[in-house]
Amino acid sequence: MSALDDKSTDASASGGAADSGSQDSPRDKGGLAMLIAFIIGLVGSLVVGWVVFPKVLYSTREQPVQFNHALHVEETGGCDSCHYFREDGTFAGVPTLDACLDCHESAIGDSEEEAKFVENYVEPGIEVPWLVYSRQPDCVFFSHAAHVEKAGMDCVTCHGPVGESTSLKPYQENRITGYSRDIWGYDISGIFKKHEWDSMKMDDCARCHERETGSKGACFQCHK
Ligand code: HEC
Ligand code: HEC
Ligand code: HEC
Ligand code: HEC
Ligand code: HEC
Repeated sequence: MSALDDKSTDASASGGAADSGSQDSPRDKGGLAMLIAFIIGLVGSLVVGWVVFPKVLYSTREQPVQFNHALHVEETGGCDSCHYFREDGTFAGVPTLDACLDCHESAIGDSEEEAKFVENYVEPGIEVPWLVYSRQPDCVFFSHAAHVEKAGMDCVTCHGPVGESTSLKPYQENRITGYSRDIWGYDISGIFKKHEWDSMKMDDCARCHERETGSKGACFQCHK
């Protein structure tokens, strides 16, 4: 106890030379209380910023149908029966129903998810309104042909291991911007980016462009 007291007296004596020798102990208590208040405030705002804020900021929706990529890649032998480049070079993106009909004209198994898919979409001929995690705002121009066909990039680089997944994660939408959560990423500080696909903001696109092509690109490259 006395060692501690000595220390704090020392500290305030050396730091507070201009205080013209005022009483030490009330000042120390005030300092300690302020430090505790600061720590509580800091921890509180970190909790609000990292845990509460993202919960409030994003609304969550389930996909209309669950889809198992691993199972289907095994069945079809690859990605391009569903995700392919059309004759004109444009990317087909998310598949339409006709990519499913060869096998699901009627239910082939007895899973509940397949029954729901066949009953709600296949039989009435309604396209599944899939929610696209990687969707960019309308002002952004992106071309798969330039990246996949010309630059030879892998799907995994930008999307992560979606092709090996057995289920679709819930879709999270930013209530303010309307963007998908996958654009800003799940770590809101953005400091701990481990994979290219952790976030796909403007800076993320530009960073790779600078690395790969030596230039960040002019605004009109990505904004038409
Ligand atoms: C039998 C059809 C089928 C096959 C084969 C298939 N996919 Fe998909 N894929 C889908 C459907 C349906 C979705 C829509 C789900 C969604 O919105 O994410 C999808 C979505 C995706 C998405 C997410 C797009 C987004 O941002 O929402 C990626 C990435 C993807 N597939 C990659 C792959 C890769 C890589 C392969 C091969 C290893 C593959 N897929 C094989 C049907 C297929
Ligand atoms: C090459 C054949 C084939 C194609 C094409 C195909 N599927 Fe499947 N699908 C299967 C098989 C096999 C199963 C497993 C059925 C079982 O045993 O329950 C399955 C299961 C499913 C299930 C339920 C099981 C689960 O966990 O996902 C859904 C939903 C589904 N498929 C949706 C789709 C959609 C959507 C498409 C088109 C984008 C599609 N399938 C295209 C063969 C196919
Ligand atoms: C350079 C990064 C990059 C690579 C590589 C890439 N994608 Fe994408 N993908 C994106 C971006 C960005 C979007 C959103 C585009 C938009 O909203 O205009 C997207 C959108 C998609 C979508 C949804 C498209 C839609 O609008 O329906 C699918 C499906 C998809 N990608 C699958 C794939 C597959 C399969 C591959 C590999 C063959 C691949 N992507 C390679 C970045 C990439
Ligand atoms: C991991 C690397 C990488 C990421 C991430 C990436 N790009 Fe690219 N992008 C490239 C490379 C490499 C090229 C050059 C392709 C070529 O022309 O050889 C390119 C080219 C382009 C082009 C020019 C296409 C053309 O007409 O030739 C546009 C537009 C573009 N990217 C937009 C985007 C946008 C928007 C994003 C983010 C949503 C993005 N890119 C993310 C690597 C990347
Ligand atoms: C490599 C591609 C790329 C380049 C180059 C680029 N942008 Fe972007 N920009 C994006 C993407 C992707 C987004 C959406 C994600 C985000 O908000 O970070 C975006 C978003 C924006 C937005 C916000 C739009 C909104 O609806 O929220 C503005 C404003 C903007 N860019 C301006 C610019 C200006 C000005 C330049 C030139 C100095 C520029 N961008 C260059 C890819 C690019």
